[in-house]
Amino acid sequence: MNLYEKIQETAAFISSKVTTQARVGIILGSGLSGLTNDIEKEASLKYADIPHFPVSTVQGHGGEMIFGKMAGKDVILMSGRFHYYEGYDMQAVTFPVRVMKALGVEILIVSNAAGGMNKNFVIGDLMLINDHINQFPEHPLRGPNDERLGTRFPDMGQPYDKELAAIGKIVAAENGIAIQEGVYIGLQGPTFETPAEYRWLHVIGGDAVGMSTVPEVIVARHGGMRVFAMSVITDIGISDVPVTITHEEVLEAAAEAAPKMATIVKGLVAQVG
Ligand code: HPA
Repeated sequence: MNLYEKIQETAAFISSKVTTQARVGIILGSGLSGLTNDIEKEASLKYADIPHFPVSTVQGHGGEMIFGKMAGKDVILMSGRFHYYEGYDMQAVTFPVRVMKALGVEILIVSNAAGGMNKNFVIGDLMLINDHINQFPEHPLRGPNDERLGTRFPDMGQPYDKELAAIGKIVAAENGIAIQEGVYIGLQGPTFETPAEYRWLHVIGGDAVGMSTVPEVIVARHGGMRVFAMSVITDIGISDVPVTITHEEVLEAAAEAAPKMATIVKGLVAQVG
């Protein structure tokens, strides 16, 4: 079975279980599962029960697709994502994005926890992603291209939708939430970076670094979806003194900033959902 057929089969399975008119899909990053409390849940499907879905293994990742209303609008929310470092290939990592698209989702909201390289950032900051640098060793569109999913050579001139970003900034301002803005670099992990690597990532133009998001955004753009993405800065890599970073600290910092993220996501969904 080819990718297109798998997507159709998975979408048909989901449609047989839930009725959703969601225009907006949301992917929750590490430590951000608190956002699930802002959904009036109508149904949920565990990844393990969805055909062709990989199964998430990482601590702090819930692993279910939730269907319901946020700010009165239908949404599909992925609580838990698939990371390349877990061993999945890029087709598996990005499969849920394809399925959301097949279910009618036009706008993808992506969140993540990330390390900061910008000297103006502090732990707990939210960063609107306005561009990215792909440093993953495998491209999600590598291989034969199925024109039904998108064009062979997609434009990446504006991966992050300017209009959605503008709305997000207004929502943040209206709620007294300060947000940073910058470039996200996606790396495979699972190691956090060495001090020299953080410096290098800053030199090549990055403000934040993480182990997700970029493949999902590329596939969303391939499929013609509009993207809004945001990082929670959970650690600062650029430092004069040695710093140790743990997954627990990342989860904790993300969870602390999650309510700010939730406010922005809800405000955005209210306007575009
Ligand atoms: N590096 C890579 N991924 C991350 C980091 C980091 O510092 N923090 C959270 N995810």
